[in-house]
Amino acid sequence: MVNVAFGIVYGSGLNEYGLYLDCEGGGRSLTSYDRTMSQLFKNIRKRPQTHKFSDGVSSIMSLGEVPPCINSTAQMNWLNRGDVRKALHIPDILPPWDLCSDEVGEQYTTLYPTVKDVYVKLLSLGLRALVYNGDTDMACNFLGDQWFVEDLGLKATTEYKMWHHDNQVAGFYQQYGNITFLTVKGAGHMVPQWAPGPAFHMFQSFITNGSY
Ligand SMILES: *[C@@H]1O[C@H](CO)[C@@H](O)[C@H](O)[C@H]1NC(C)=O
Ligand SMILES: *[C@@H]1O[C@H](CO)[C@@H](O)[C@H](O)[C@H]1NC(C)=O
Repeated sequence: MVNVAFGIVYGSGLNEYGLYLDCEGGGRSLTSYDRTMSQLFKNIRKRPQTHKFSDGVSSIMSLGEVPPCINSTAQMNWLNRGDVRKALHIPDILPPWDLCSDEVGEQYTTLYPTVKDVYVKLLSLGLRALVYNGDTDMACNFLGDQWFVEDLGLKATTEYKMWHHDNQVAGFYQQYGNITFLTVKGAGHMVPQWAPGPAFHMFQSFITNGSY
């Protein structure tokens, strides 16, 4: 069942970053990003009860440059412009900006199977946290983050309820003391890019510790 789901998310031609968005470039071409992702998941793959990539997907992976269905041409061009690099104080010796680095991905070693302890520690020091997801993102599905926050062992201090932006339901959220889990309705993986209004509202509420 898990493999069937992974086949749909990663191999069907749907935009895994936004279920209802078109796949930029059309159809489906597996890229080095897929290889990178499978590399990132290689340790997790060995663990029972977690997701794994179907053999069908990994065996047809091929070289490419960007995540599937995402057109990053504009930001690649912009972030590699001389004047932009200068404005961002990026030294000339550093390589061009890239959306996903094969070099990093292929050499990446998973150090922490979970960051639960990190969250628990930071929260115990009095920091506030916001965990948010676009609810049409299949790459980082909101359920995973919801389960993660629920599993921190903290007491819920609000109901799971709607929040609003421009007189519309903008998603759902629940607070557990200083950590909030929140979804953004209809947004995919790149929440600020695809839902700028609600995203601004969300960040502002978080930063000012105001209500959502
Ligand atoms: C990607 O975006 C660039 C500029 O933003 C555009 O010129 C190009 O046609 C797009 N590519 C595809 C495959 O849609
Ligand atoms: C929440 O954070 C505030 C500071 O932002 C802190 O004073 C308070 O102790 C924290 N509450 C909990 C339950 O950790």
